[in-house]
Amino acid sequence: MATAGKVIRCKAAVAWETKKPLVMEEIEVAPPEANEVRIKIVATAVCHTDLYFLLESVSEEGFPTVLGHEAAGIIESVGPGVTEYQPGDKVIPLLIRQCRKCHFCKNPKTNQCVDRWPVMVRELSMSRFTCKGKQLFQFGGTSTFSEYTVVHETAVAKIDPAAPLDKVCLLGCGVSTGYGAAVNTAKVEPGSTCAVFGLGAVGLAAVMGCRNAGAKKIIAVDTNPDKFEKAKVFGATDFVNPKDHDKPVSQVLMGMTGGGVDFSIECVGNVEVMRSALESCIAGYGVSVVVGFTDLHDVCTRPLQLISGKTWKGSGLGGFKGRDGIPTMVKAYMDKKVMLDEFITHRMPLERVNEAIQLMTEGKCIRTVLAVTQE
Ligand code: APR
Ligand code: ZN
Repeated sequence: MATAGKVIRCKAAVAWETKKPLVMEEIEVAPPEANEVRIKIVATAVCHTDLYFLLESVSEEGFPTVLGHEAAGIIESVGPGVTEYQPGDKVIPLLIRQCRKCHFCKNPKTNQCVDRWPVMVRELSMSRFTCKGKQLFQFGGTSTFSEYTVVHETAVAKIDPAAPLDKVCLLGCGVSTGYGAAVNTAKVEPGSTCAVFGLGAVGLAAVMGCRNAGAKKIIAVDTNPDKFEKAKVFGATDFVNPKDHDKPVSQVLMGMTGGGVDFSIECVGNVEVMRSALESCIAGYGVSVVVGFTDLHDVCTRPLQLISGKTWKGSGLGGFKGRDGIPTMVKAYMDKKVMLDEFITHRMPLERVNEAIQLMTEGKCIRTVLAVTQE
């Protein structure tokens, strides 16, 4: 590669400050250092976690930055010590790393890794981005609203070279997160009754996971009834808009199921909804999984909810160990076992990222895929 070892000047959408539109800028991307790879991003989607960090979180920490974390691309060059990846490999960057060496990585019960939180904000010293003489933070260890990014080798999944990057980018976060929450974390059982709260891409993927796991009844819950039609496509059998009822949604669900659902999955990122999802479960053995991301409020319930035998769990990246699990999701898509195309409601170039953010804020899209570079 003519660019290997050199600084690349390219386009990126820079978030200079919180709660402000992103600005297309020319940035410099330094070459990868030891155990890092530089990726040419081909496609990236906008996920609610990008919005959370930009618009909802109260912290000023981590700005200026380049957002974006649900993406697919091609390795441009590799740093010293990288043996598993080569220029030209098709890859998906990962929010949760897999070093394969730590006690978490060696434990089949979890997808956490000691390097699991390059935090939302990667330390400035670890960012390879500069713009107008200023260093930019890296977001989630990924930062994919850019033509090029540098990530650690433990944060990349190598995928089938035949995979369409403008679709499998969704497996970098939202779809794998929701699907895995049902299949890996809740461990939905055949014949069971499930409820999914929130019908964005994450929730719809959870619905698909429940269906693929053999659930008999899948109740889709959203305050935006426009989402119900799409939920049917992914396998939902019943639909509840909490706004249509004058009693708590948990009571509505208990009534519909004769005591509560076997499995519930929260895909909103709202602590009240997390509570409702738990309280909608059947006593004795109901399992509720928290997927939606927020770190602003405490989540609470009455202890009897748990004493009665319910289990409250959480799940990140659907419980998938990224480097091993995400390629299996790509294969499942190629084998037509999971749907992806149906999530994509809009496509536009990276330059229109603010429009994509607006669509999600208004609840008018499921996923917008941004075209970043030509393959
Ligand atoms: N009850 C039910 N549904 C709700 C409620 C509520 N109180 N409030 C919002 N919703 C619905 C919205 O109408 C929307 O359909 O939740 C859905 C959220 O979808 P998106 O905004 O498209 O978000 P998505 O990308 O699917 O992410 C969902 O998972 O990974 C996390 O950070 C992410 O917290 C976010 C969540
Ligand atoms: Zn590890």
